Amino acid sequence: MSAQPPPHRAVAFAPASVGNVAIGFDILGFAVGTLGDQVTAIRRPGRGVDITDVRGIACELARDPRQNTAGQALLALVEAVRPDFGISIEIDKGIPLGSGLGGSAASAVAAVVAGNALLDQSCERADLLKFALAGEQVASGSRHMDNIAPSLYGGLVLTVGIDNPRVKQIPVPPGVRAVVVHPHMFLATSQARAILKGSVAMSDFVWQTANLAGFISGCYTDDLDMIRASLEDVVIEPQRQALIPGFLDARAGAMAAGALGCSISGAGPSMFAWASVASAAGVEAAMRGAFAAQSLRCDTWIVDVNSPGARVIG
Ligand code: HSE
Repeated sequence: MSAQPPPHRAVAFAPASVGNVAIGFDILGFAVGTLGDQVTAIRRPGRGVDITDVRGIACELARDPRQNTAGQALLALVEAVRPDFGISIEIDKGIPLGSGLGGSAASAVAAVVAGNALLDQSCERADLLKFALAGEQVASGSRHMDNIAPSLYGGLVLTVGIDNPRVKQIPVPPGVRAVVVHPHMFLATSQARAILKGSVAMSDFVWQTANLAGFISGCYTDDLDMIRASLEDVVIEPQRQALIPGFLDARAGAMAAGALGCSISGAGPSMFAWASVASAAGVEAAMRGAFAAQSLRCDTWIVDVNSPGARVIG
């Protein structure tokens, strides 16, 4: 039996993600499978990449592939692989722009996964990660993996290195859920990065390092007390929290409702908490209430932290 030739058209879905996870600035993130972006890639004559449609909840994105996260990611793939055909893409946005839920990363990841499905010889996932990184850079102006890696691989993902990244999927204790809350406001990642100081006090460095180590070891050993003790960002969150109206009340409400930890999702304004299955609904209600008190409507999700990563769906 001969292998099937690659299709002329492929649709890929890539999930949203929570970057940083409080203690792993730019290096740790988890997938949020309940929402995501979709990219349809279609073979066409000629060479290169073009964007023929952008649909969904954010359709004002640039159509120039070099200015678009999905387009730039796919260009990186095409420039490396040099297929003997061109690729047109259609983007369906399911993740709000400026939400802190990894929308630009998801578009980039979905584009490379869909484009890869058209190739005669598919790329390794580690290569797709590098191509997607080129796309992510268009949106945020910096190279960080904490959204693209979980969106591509699924689950809770740590990356070490940029040019030759090592990716590690971290086990999450059973019975832990993530509460994700998106208040309806826009916050540009570039703005949230621009306010960050260029240096960290030695005491904060020690504290944050301990927290990251404690959190990772707590995940590997199913130690919820260790996770509760360490899921706290003492470096980035204090600088960014003023950008999110109601942040302190939302976090306090989540912790009072039994959360293991609560912080900003990526660059914000979305927030996340980790909680046991039993306390997740109460945590969600407390966070929603804090934003309502600021007259901010929000969408909320309670998700398994082990959401699958990007995949071809059609
Ligand atoms: N790690 C990034 C940040 C995520 O916090 O700026 C945003 O894309």
